[in-house]
Amino acid sequence: MQQNRFYRMAFLPAISGAFSAFFLFSSVVVFGGAPLYGREPVRARHAMVVASQPAEQVGVEILRKGGNAVDAAVAVGFALNAAYPFAGAMGGGGFMTIRLADGTSTFIDFREEAPGKASKTMYLDANGNATRESATGWKSSGVPGTVRGFELAQKKYGKLKWAEDLAPAIAMAQQGFPAPYALAESLRTARSLAGNAESKRVFQRDGKFYEQGDTITFPDLARTLTRIAQGGADEFYLGETAHTLAAAMEANGGLITLDDLKNYKAIERAPLTGKYRNYTIITAPPPSAGGLGILQMLAMLEGSGYEKGGFGSASALHYEAEVMRRFYADRNQYIGDPDFVKNPIAGLLDPAYIASRRASIDPAHATPSTVLGPGKPAGTESSETTHFDVVDEQGNAVAVTFTLNGGYGNGITVPGLGFLLNNEMDDFTSKPGVANMFGLIQGEANTIAPGKRPVSSMAPTIVLRDGKLFAVLGGPGGSRIPSAILQAFVDVVDFGMNAQDAVDAPRIHHQWMPDRITMEKGLSPDTIEALKARGHDARYEGGPVTAEVEMILIDGGWLQGAGDPRRSGTGAGY
Ligand code: DON
Repeated sequence: MQQNRFYRMAFLPAISGAFSAFFLFSSVVVFGGAPLYGREPVRARHAMVVASQPAEQVGVEILRKGGNAVDAAVAVGFALNAAYPFAGAMGGGGFMTIRLADGTSTFIDFREEAPGKASKTMYLDANGNATRESATGWKSSGVPGTVRGFELAQKKYGKLKWAEDLAPAIAMAQQGFPAPYALAESLRTARSLAGNAESKRVFQRDGKFYEQGDTITFPDLARTLTRIAQGGADEFYLGETAHTLAAAMEANGGLITLDDLKNYKAIERAPLTGKYRNYTIITAPPPSAGGLGILQMLAMLEGSGYEKGGFGSASALHYEAEVMRRFYADRNQYIGDPDFVKNPIAGLLDPAYIASRRASIDPAHATPSTVLGPGKPAGTESSETTHFDVVDEQGNAVAVTFTLNGGYGNGITVPGLGFLLNNEMDDFTSKPGVANMFGLIQGEANTIAPGKRPVSSMAPTIVLRDGKLFAVLGGPGGSRIPSAILQAFVDVVDFGMNAQDAVDAPRIHHQWMPDRITMEKGLSPDTIEALKARGHDARYEGGPVTAEVEMILIDGGWLQGAGDPRRSGTGAGY
């Protein structure tokens, strides 16, 4: 699967003049069309952690201490509250996909929940128009799930003591660490933090922004983490943290009460699994739609011959965009919290249904989204983030994506607690037909109800090749997550890239509505023209086009760790 990069690079000087077409062509034949990027992933023989810097070091520390991949994931997750407050999600929620070395796999759902006082029309004004309160201010927060989720995973599948897994995060918050450039720059420019006095106190020092290399400390967070280390998740949901959070909510017009916190439960679910060629994909079930997307899109691609044009070709991108379009149309219509609505997952993945969706792709023309609605699968009834991966020496694998939703959530730091609150309520359908912050236009299945979990796109994913652990991947980026994971995965298995090239490679995104392919620079202008000729509205976009992807690949006796240069992900291993 992996190409010999040095061999490919050695070829380059030979490519000139009249021979270039021949050599390029022969490289397509010999190397499956892999582009010549030349970035090596971090490689290790035994264990690997990929996470936002410098939290990956915490994972390695725990593994070296005898912890397993679950311990390391929990430790990294807590450390990210300091290392990556953009999404360090103690005040938010997420998902963890686990595959143990004994071959069993499981999924922990610690997605936020709508508070008891939430209602279907809570974000509509007197004229029935959607307000921005789903994304801004105290009312935008769902009940946080991370601490319960980590507790469930750690108690059942970890090896070390809970307090041991929290120790590195406490040390990081207390003693501080040199602020990486990306963190300093992000804190300087975060508009969401600028409007909140407590956030300014916590994320600046004496009214001044941190510079790269300054030691950044989080004393309030360290105290909160220390209490959680001593009192377990109960401290967060019943103890001092819960009382402080509920009082702050009440004082500021928020909805989360002590009862909401007390009643919150992380849920262990069966992961969604599917096949692509000789790969088995283990991924996120509802309330995420992300895993469904990866399975649907791969199943539509399989057997289409889309890969024949090679990486980045208009013909391959056309097919990728068309399968994205079909998945997002289904996603918006059908998926909701499985404890509240019936998700027709079996129907949406049924081979006959997939075949009919695949057959509706015209190889030469875009299908307008106005014409292509959601499909009619069997069983239907008439709707800021970070990712990290760990593989330990025993072969246990963990993928976690968790989030506050927007960058720094709603920008509100709970006074005295040192952590930010999510604005995950915006992932619900505030009003059917009206776009949320990711431009998703969703339906009834995802409307708000007390205790309901909003549909997510997060999809921590583990892949087996011929039954053996092959890849651990996922990423942040809202609605763009499933399309990014799809591309990074096929860049490895169909286009022959190593983990780093697959993570780095330019990507596209299409989400049904708006009916548009957004493209990253690096894909050529004449590819855009070729896509336009097929009837697509294809264009480069300035802002984020794609989600970030973090990936561990296990191949040829090496663990390859690849963090996404679009943010600050990196690998560390031994
Ligand atoms: O669950 C979801 O799909 C979103 N709340 C994820 C948000 C996200 O990835 C933002 N990161 N850039």
